[in-house]
Amino acid sequence: MKVIITENYEEMSRVAADIIINKVKADPTAVLGLATGSSPIGTYDNMVKDHLENGTSYKNVKTVNLDEYVTLAPEHDQSYAYFMRKNLFDRVDIDLANTNLPSGIAECAQAECDRYNALLDTMKQDIQLLGLGSNGHIGFNEPGTPFGSVTHLVDLTENTIKDNSRLFDNIDDVPRQALSMGIKNIMQAKSILMVVSGANKADAVYGMVKGEVTPDLPASVLQLHPDVTIVCDKAAASKL
Ligand code: F6R
Repeated sequence: MKVIITENYEEMSRVAADIIINKVKADPTAVLGLATGSSPIGTYDNMVKDHLENGTSYKNVKTVNLDEYVTLAPEHDQSYAYFMRKNLFDRVDIDLANTNLPSGIAECAQAECDRYNALLDTMKQDIQLLGLGSNGHIGFNEPGTPFGSVTHLVDLTENTIKDNSRLFDNIDDVPRQALSMGIKNIMQAKSILMVVSGANKADAVYGMVKGEVTPDLPASVLQLHPDVTIVCDKAAASKL
């Protein structure tokens, strides 16, 4: 596990974007595993800047996202599909047909999970971008999720609902469930890149890097992956 400590969120975002940009330059048909939330927004901004200034092309890139809220249609402005278009897809030359997220409005959640797992079997991520929950979750794999899990329906914890409520008008508007890639789907990636910032993540960062490998802190599983880079700012790294 390689840990890169940066001064702040801006530097974290530049470093992480450069890693992804170099992957895409080396393989213009790369499969990118992508994440939502506050942590990767700056990374996406830097990828867009590079696309506009240097012409790095995403035309033949394919993407798979980690998760989506149940009940939110792709047009809903709090859906992760909408987030991805706003923060990345609509700002680079990617073909939307090459982008994939689980659907939050599938009639049958299990059938949708099965579809997504079958897709992931055919699309191994060359690089998987992750954020980190303050409780150590990755994707929406909350503490206690088995390491062998694949895409599944998740009941979000009160902790996660509270963390995510800052993006909604009202905490009651935060969906209570999500479809999330499982830990096994994340671990199949050839390389993993995590961006973490802020002192509220410091305990989770410590547990992930130096703690016991345990489902109680899902991100600790990354200690078992051969190619992981954690880019975190000073505040997030303060307990290391
Ligand atoms: C998002 C995701 C989550 C977030 C995590 C951190 O697709 O899967 O695991 O990465 O909750 O969220 P932020 O970055 O908003 O602190």
